[in-house]
Order: sequence, then C-alpha cells, then structure tokens
Amino acid sequence: MEHSKHIWRGAILLTAALTALVVGRHFLIPESFGEMGFYRGDALYEFMASPPVHGAPGACAACHDDVAAAKAQGGHRTVECEVCHGPLAVHVKDGEKVGDMPVDRSWQLCAHCHRYLAARPAAMPQIDLREHLDLGPQDPFPAEACLGCHDRDAIHSP
Ligand code: HEC
Ligand code: HEC
Ligand code: HEC
Ligand code: HEC
Repeated sequence: MEHSKHIWRGAILLTAALTALVVGRHFLIPESFGEMGFYRGDALYEFMASPPVHGAPGACAACHDDVAAAKAQGGHRTVECEVCHGPLAVHVKDGEKVGDMPVDRSWQLCAHCHRYLAARPAAMPQIDLREHLDLGPQDPFPAEACLGCHDRDAIHSP
C-alpha cells in the first residue's frame, strides 16, 4: 500500500495540470477564435475597418488623365501607377492632394521587371543590364541610368 503513494502523487499532479490547461485555455483563447476557421474571427473585422491605402485601378486618371491616356496606349498599359509610384493614400485624401507622390527614378525600378532572368516568360521584354547600358564588368551603374534614353513619356508609354 505505502508503495502506491508516488502513483497517487503523479495522478494528482496530472489532474491539476490538465485542469489548469482547460481553465487557462478557456480564459486565454479569444472569444471569436474558431468562428470562421483556425484563426481569431474578429481579426477579419479589424482588417475591414482599417482605411484602404491603395486606389482602385483608374484612381489616378481622375486628376492625371494625360498620363493615364498615354499609359493606356503603350507597353505599360497593364502596369498600375501605384506599382511604380506609391499608394494613393500618401498623396490624396477626400479628393484633395495631401502629400507628394514618390517618384522612383532609379534603374533598380526598371531592372526589377526588365533585367534578364531565365525564369521570365520569353515574351517579356528583357535586357542584359550591362550590355544594354554599355557598361564594363566593373563599371558602377549611374543612379538614373534608364531615364537618359527612356524619357518620361517613354516610361509611361513605352
Ligand atoms: C513603369 C513605371 C511607371 C508607371 C506604371 C507610372 N509611372 Fe509615372 N513616372 C515614372 C517615372 C520613372 C517617372 C520619372 C520620369 C522622369 O523623371 O523623367 C514618372 C513621372 C511621373 C510624373 C511626373 C512627376 C514629376 O515630378 O515630374 C507624374 C505626374 C506621374 N509619373 C504620374 C503617373 C500616373 C498618373 C501613372 C498612371 C496612370 C503613372 N505615373 C504610371 C514611372 C511610372
Ligand atoms: C485628386 C486629384 C489627384 C489624384 C486622384 C492623384 N493626383 Fe497626383 N497630383 C495631383 C496634383 C494636384 C499634383 C501636383 C500638380 C501636378 O503635378 O499636376 C499631383 C502630382 C503628382 C506627382 C508629382 C509629384 C507630386 O506629388 O507633386 C505624381 C508622381 C503623381 N501626382 C502621381 C499620382 C498617382 C500615381 C496617382 C494615383 C495613385 C495620383 N497621382 C492621383 C492630384 C492628384
Ligand atoms: C512592374 C513591372 C514593370 C516595371 C517596374 C517597368 N516595366 Fe517596362 N514593361 C513592363 C511590361 C509588363 C511591359 C509590356 C510587356 C509586353 O508588351 O508584353 C513593359 C514594356 C516596356 C518597354 C517596351 C518594350 C517593347 O519591346 O515594347 C520598355 C522600353 C520598357 N518597358 C521600359 C521600362 C523602363 C525604362 C522602366 C523603368 C522606368 C520600366 N519599363 C519599368 C513591366 C514593367
Ligand atoms: C543609351 C540609351 C539607353 C539607355 C541608357 C537605356 N536604354 Fe533601353 N533601349 C534603348 C533603345 C535605343 C532601345 C530600342 C528601341 C526601342 O525598342 O524602344 C531600348 C529598348 C529597351 C527595352 C525593350 C527591349 C526589347 O527587347 O523589346 C527595354 C525593356 C529597355 N530598353 C529597358 C531599359 C532599362 C531598364 C534601362 C536602364 C537599366 C535602359 N533601357 C537604358 C536605349 C537605352
């Protein structure tokens, strides 16, 4: 009989731990968890309540119809303005300009989509950067390397 003491101790400890787990879980898990899946349901409503930062396609055309019209004619017709510039919210609020829209003039912006990569579809216009810019293997890239030849109009409507 006296040798069963350690079994009782173990059993009591195990029961206490399980009770703590069940009670703790009840208090620690947010109420809406599992409502719609393995996540906190309220997170969805919190996301829905946050203000949108990007405009709908065409949001820029309301004020920049010249650029939008040019873009619709050229190779960049499928590239949204906000991809190269920035989100509408930094620039416009309630139909008024509230801040400057970033303008990225770096060669990196263009290289992001046009540098030759074997994995890109062959139909995508791609260039070997150094060959296209006539740079030797050690030459540094000029900061605005692409704009010298592809000017503003060409960029919006290549
Ligand atoms: C492929 C990338 C790209 C897309 C898409 C694009 N832009 Fe641009 N945008 C540029 C670059 C780069 C410049 C800077 C041109 C320069 O300095 O010659 C520029 C310049 C401008 C300027 C002149 C800024 C200044 O300070 O002179 C305006 C305005 C502008 N873009 C608006 C738009 C609008 C509106 C759209 C969509 C209809 C758009 N852009 C789409 C890359 C882009
Ligand atoms: C409510 C009108 C309005 C909307 C919508 C709007 N802009 Fe502008 N934007 C302006 C005004 C006003 C200027 C300053 C005068 C100018 O350059 O035409 C400006 C200037 C710019 C400039 C030059 C840098 C600066 O901030 O002065 C860029 C680039 C630009 N806008 C891009 C965009 C892009 C991209 C969008 C869409 C995501 C957009 N704009 C939507 C009104 C607007
Ligand atoms: C977000 C991706 C993206 C960025 C950034 C981008 N482009 Fe493009 N560009 C494209 C796509 C897509 C096309 C059209 C491909 C097609 O016609 O199928 C294109 C087409 C072109 C063309 C026309 C090629 C032809 O043979 O018709 C030129 C030139 C060009 N881009 C230059 C530039 C320059 C310069 C920059 C930087 C200011 C730039 N692009 C930034 C995606 C991009
Ligand atoms: C020295 C002038 C010059 C510079 C600098 C330059 N380009 Fe070009 N680029 C050209 C010419 C010329 C063409 C061929 C004419 C055309 O198709 O528009 C061309 C064509 C392209 C094309 C289309 C290629 C194709 O296969 O259809 C892309 C994309 C392009 N350039 C991207 C860039 C990018 C990105 C940069 C900056 C890293 C850049 N260019 C810098 C002159 C230049």
